[in-house]
Amino acid sequence: MDDVILRVKNICKYYPGVKALEDVSFEVRRGETHAICGENGAGKSTFIKILTGAIEPTAGTIEFEGKEYSRLTPKQSMDLGISVIYQEFSLIPYLTVTENIFYGREIKKGLIRDMSAMEMQARELCKDMGVNIDVRKRVCDLGIAYQQIVEILKAVSRNAEFIIMDEPTAPLTVRETQVFFNIIKRLKEEHVTIIFISHRLEEVFEICDRVSVFCDGRYVVTKDVQEIDRRGLITYMVGRELSDDYPTPRREIGEDILKVRGLTNKNVKDISFHLRKGEILGFGGLVGAGRTELVRAIYGADPILSGEITFRGEAYRPRDPGAALQAGIGLIPEDRKRQGAVLSLPISENVVYSILKRIAPMGVIHSKDEKEYVDKYIGELNIKTPSPGQLVKNLSGGNQQKVVLAKAMATNCDILIFDEPTRGIDVGAKQEIYALMCQLAEAGKSIIMISSEMPELIGMSDRIYVMSNGEIAGELLSEDYSQIKILEIASSKL
Ligand SMILES: Nc1ncnc2c1ncn2[C@@H]1O[C@H](COP(=O)(O)OP(=O)(O)OP(=O)(O)O)[C@@H](O)[C@H]1O
Ligand SMILES: [Mg+2]
Repeated sequence: MDDVILRVKNICKYYPGVKALEDVSFEVRRGETHAICGENGAGKSTFIKILTGAIEPTAGTIEFEGKEYSRLTPKQSMDLGISVIYQEFSLIPYLTVTENIFYGREIKKGLIRDMSAMEMQARELCKDMGVNIDVRKRVCDLGIAYQQIVEILKAVSRNAEFIIMDEPTAPLTVRETQVFFNIIKRLKEEHVTIIFISHRLEEVFEICDRVSVFCDGRYVVTKDVQEIDRRGLITYMVGRELSDDYPTPRREIGEDILKVRGLTNKNVKDISFHLRKGEILGFGGLVGAGRTELVRAIYGADPILSGEITFRGEAYRPRDPGAALQAGIGLIPEDRKRQGAVLSLPISENVVYSILKRIAPMGVIHSKDEKEYVDKYIGELNIKTPSPGQLVKNLSGGNQQKVVLAKAMATNCDILIFDEPTRGIDVGAKQEIYALMCQLAEAGKSIIMISSEMPELIGMSDRIYVMSNGEIAGELLSEDYSQIKILEIASSKL
């Protein structure tokens, strides 16, 4: 008989106007790596929060190691050895790697913390897991990928037997994902049970043993990964077949709209490139290559030390993001929580905020206009919400990302910069975003897209620049695209 570690029965979770989970029952076996897949808003994170005690189910029971509970408190969950790596980070940025790993259970010598003992253990742990991190660094000084790895180290150091990972690989590029997978493989050898949530289906096939699908708050099916393929899985997730194709470009590419010469600041060196009207220009590279830093400089968010930019034939040097927006350059940041949407405001205000000037020249918003804009974007991006008045923080992770996209698209900028636009977005919605990006380009807008997802970078871009170590290391035209070539150039300056 299979050894079941977790069995949930008839779990429901209702919010006003939303059935986040409806009658969910299934099992997780001891020592398996079990994926949960489903579209944005399907209920995956809600399910996880019930297991960690962060929220209480409206109905149903949770059986863990043979014992039945009607709900778990956070303490019970922790005592049961359940550990979670959240979709949004939970580390304390101003503490060091070591302090984060040992947070709440510091090693003490008498009354004082024994830093050197903790650092030694932290180093040992890094070595065991095959990662190279300076354990004395503050977490905020690490790249997003390494922050994620610290989250995992923290869980592993607590001898967790049941680790839940909610989109752990979303901020990672190909190479870091491999480091991460090596960690998972070691955990598997130690028979740790893992629940793994990811929108990158190839990862599910690479490291998971079984996969369960949620759709609209309901449990659909559980399969061995051997008995299902990508297509079949997508069909269960979205309830229809979906092609993996990218939209065929029908756009006309015009003259240069933006020219950058020798741009240098504290993060990037001597950057020169050009962007044409109606073009989708891709930027590839490893995490930390300087892509985000480059676009932040163009957007006026980081100072420029030297170099020249011309935008529509005129010298351009933005003082701040406000000036960039005013000039017609918009940015959709990679870190939606810190820079993207105002979580405590409704969707409608988030979208409208960025277009106030356009729809309310005199400072008065016509509620009819507002409604029209907001409905348009909710519809086009398929944002899952009971109403436009829903607070952004109550949306699922992927739907929050869509609000950030809607905000930027509503600005009517001539140049839109997308930094990892589909991070955390489900397969179906990705295609809607691709289609929208193409529409924008066809309408004569120019797009810069930073992406760590190779297929997307290759599938969407008219041209690709590859950055390495703060420099542009190569330019590829579509006939030369290949994943290997991009990766080679990406590591050429390391
Ligand atoms: N606090 C809340 N108040 C109201 N609705 C909520 C709240 N939390 C979640 N929801 C809703 O519950 C549904 C399920 O959300 P959940 O975060 O579980 O989705 P998910 O499967 O994790 O999606 P994603 O892939 O986008 O992360 C969504 O419709 C979401 O808007
Ligand atoms: Mg989620």
